[in-house]
Amino acid sequence: MSLARVADAFDPEAIEEGAGVIRRGGLVAFPTETVYGLGADAGNALAVARVFEVKARPRMDPLILHVADSESARLYGRFPQFARTLMARFWPGPLTLIVDRSPSVPSIVTAGLETVAIRVPAHPAALALIRAAGCGIAAPSANPFGYVSPTEARHVAEQLGGAIDLILDGGPCAIGLESTILSLVGPTPCVLRAGGTPIEELQSMLGRLDVWLNAEERPQAPGQLKRHYATQTRLEIAEEATEHLRPEEKVGLLCMTSPQNPQRYAAVEVLSPSGNLREAAANLFRGLRRLDTLSLDRIIARPMQEAGLGLAIMDRLRRCSCRE
Ligand code: TXA
Ligand code: MG
Repeated sequence: MSLARVADAFDPEAIEEGAGVIRRGGLVAFPTETVYGLGADAGNALAVARVFEVKARPRMDPLILHVADSESARLYGRFPQFARTLMARFWPGPLTLIVDRSPSVPSIVTAGLETVAIRVPAHPAALALIRAAGCGIAAPSANPFGYVSPTEARHVAEQLGGAIDLILDGGPCAIGLESTILSLVGPTPCVLRAGGTPIEELQSMLGRLDVWLNAEERPQAPGQLKRHYATQTRLEIAEEATEHLRPEEKVGLLCMTSPQNPQRYAAVEVLSPSGNLREAAANLFRGLRRLDTLSLDRIIARPMQEAGLGLAIMDRLRRCSCRE
């Protein structure tokens, strides 16, 4: 299996090369401010089909269409009037909007749904790639389905390098959590996935807001699956008082700030020594991935305050911990 070339995302020639690959129906992994995406020309059903294959992603799971600005977004979806203020405030940025789709969007992108997910990423390389390719780019996170999302180019190279055409390396992702998904389709705007845009900020702008993160019966977004974003190693959420370590066990600890008794654990990942949620979010997936490579018996994650980005962090940890 040949390995994808890794090129510098800040090199204009690499962007041109990536745009060419996309236009010819190939797959390019590219950095966004949230996580790395695996991009294909959204108008090319065959290229999009390859994205599903490479990720082993179920075909019923729709992709996010990435565009460079709100004007382009309007080519693909029908936005209600009030969406204008959301776009102006949060785009480019970690907010995905779900709206009724235009007929121009191939149904493989939306998995046959009449709605489409659209966002404008806030990463110069992502925007440059979309502009140079001259088309919307359909892109899920660049990881095998169900696993932790990639926040560095090497995460993509390790898992998908043999199956894609090019990886644009833009360094670690600044936010480190996927975009917040907001559906504008029903009578009241509804958050389907907690993510890089804190729900409180949407609430204060919109007033009326539903939050529906756990639609187990009929998931609208696989991010709503009980188990997702998951390490191979079993993960539990526990305080020190209730963690019950057995002496022979190799346990990794994932925590916000430095633990009292680091010697109790085989490995420790401190997400933010100063207790900053932004920093913790940016380090979360890299920390989980590192612990997952150490052949541990268990990972224990300390619970965090569920406000702002803390809500999305805890959401990911819960789904990772689910054994069902
Ligand atoms: O930050 C992000 O959103 C990253 C970067 C690459 O942009 N992308 C990402 O894509 O997380 P993905 O495919 O891993 O997650 C997209 C989520 C899925 O849970 C999918 O089900 C949901 O968006 N989704 C897409 N279209 C939808 C629709 N029409 N209705 C409801 N959910 C939808
Ligand atoms: Mg994903």
